[in-house]
Amino acid sequence: MYVDSLPSFLNDVDVLAIVCYQWGDTGKGKVIDFFSDWADVFARGTGGPNAGHTLTVNGKKIITHQIPSGILRDKERKTNIMGSGMVIDLESSLKEMSELREAGCTFNGLRISDRAQLILPYHKVRDRLQSSMGSGEIGTTGRGIGPAYADKIMRLGPTVGDLKDKSRFVKMLEKVQQQYPGTIFNIEEVIEQQSRLYEEIKDLVCDTDKILQESLKEGARVLLEGAQGLLLSVDYGTYPYCTSSDPSIYGLTRGVGLTPDQVDLTLGIVKFPFMTRVGNGPFPTEFGGMKSESYCAEGNGNAHKQSIENAEFGSRADEMLRSDDEFERGRALRLIADEYGATTRRPRRIGRTDLVALKYAIGVNGPNLVLTKPDCTSELEEIELGVGYRTTSGETITEITHGRDITYGLEGVYERLPWNIGDISRCERVEDLPENMKSAMGYVASRCKTNIKMVSVGPEAKQTIIN
Ligand code: GDP
Ligand code: IMO
Ligand code: MG
Repeated sequence: MYVDSLPSFLNDVDVLAIVCYQWGDTGKGKVIDFFSDWADVFARGTGGPNAGHTLTVNGKKIITHQIPSGILRDKERKTNIMGSGMVIDLESSLKEMSELREAGCTFNGLRISDRAQLILPYHKVRDRLQSSMGSGEIGTTGRGIGPAYADKIMRLGPTVGDLKDKSRFVKMLEKVQQQYPGTIFNIEEVIEQQSRLYEEIKDLVCDTDKILQESLKEGARVLLEGAQGLLLSVDYGTYPYCTSSDPSIYGLTRGVGLTPDQVDLTLGIVKFPFMTRVGNGPFPTEFGGMKSESYCAEGNGNAHKQSIENAEFGSRADEMLRSDDEFERGRALRLIADEYGATTRRPRRIGRTDLVALKYAIGVNGPNLVLTKPDCTSELEEIELGVGYRTTSGETITEITHGRDITYGLEGVYERLPWNIGDISRCERVEDLPENMKSAMGYVASRCKTNIKMVSVGPEAKQTIIN
């Protein structure tokens, strides 16, 4: 067992979904790790190698991208499913497996959907060419996600199962070349490469929807692992600044062959009292606004920026948090909270938790929340929570009906609350949390009509408080 006791709210739950209510990277991996004693089956249903989910076990970080995070429990005869709604890059899946193998993982219960779309080398080329959009850039992860999903919708995308039948695979690739005459690739080369990769995983490929449904009939406990976040949804998010799948509970369940009403509990993961975004797009509560956005996008960020920030103010980040310049406060918080992308190492843009967007996410996915990373803000004397947006005409909006209502030009309107929470990383019960934090939680609960089910106070599974 990682954790001493599991929450009683799991008593009548067979299917639990973990989804992010913001722009991704809220700590889904950590929360999944917390529930990994409980679950028998773990299933991913959306996205692909654009995801990076961090699990910290005994101080060691393990990051999963395409393989479900339950793979750390493979030895306990647990099943891990890469579902039909995913886009899968076989080359990087094998690389990920080899890294996980080095970390001690086995893959006996790993299953890959034959209906998942393949990400092929030309998708990655197209992603890099197409990611520029009008005058701005989305700043995709460059992993071929958008083009692979686009080919699915265009009925041109080969699936993992298509690799079983070479002649079918050739026909699909020929169609792609007809459709995109500008796409230069050698069919033979792609086939040779993909067939070689397929040989290594072919025993894992099957109808995963069927496995999941049969497991449920046999009484298995299922954890659905969301990727990305609601505000990145192509259907619900800040379109066109979004990913190409739907990471809501609807997209996630469709991507594993279930329906939303088969889910007994959805937990929405929310960074608090700050939030982050990687890549471009509107972010009304960002510290330092456009200056921060372009700073983080410069040269496409990367680990280099982390070392610059470290050298510049690593030792005085706490002091920087009290700067009058909010852009500097954002930089300090990025360093303290280690907010650099798990997949790309890009610096994550930092802002205040946006309760307008949160209320909207609750309306789509449901009211049960897990707050993460408050422990990273121990040095803040007060916090600001986004409670409205001021438009360019001076009007204040406190509710939105769609993610697309979050546009450039909106400025955050804030409620200031006292904080000064000190070190909470060893707190075990809600009663142990500082009064200021409990009242801020009460404020969120009443303003957003939500239930805060858990609070995460550190990266390890055991650093979790049940409310
Ligand atoms: P995911 O994509 O939602 O799984 O999130 P990421 O793994 O991309 O980013 C979350 C980061 O925050 C990781 O480095 C986690 O180890 C870390 N993390 C998650 N929850 C907590 C927490 O409550 N406190 C602290 N200090 N770190 C956390
Ligand atoms: P996890 O699962 C944060 C963002 C990219 C970019 C936009 C489109 O770790 O939370 P894409 O490559 O998907 O076409 O890029 O979506 N993005 C993520 N941001 N966390 C993720 O996943 C993300 N997956 C995609 O940065 O802005
Ligand atoms: Mg991530």
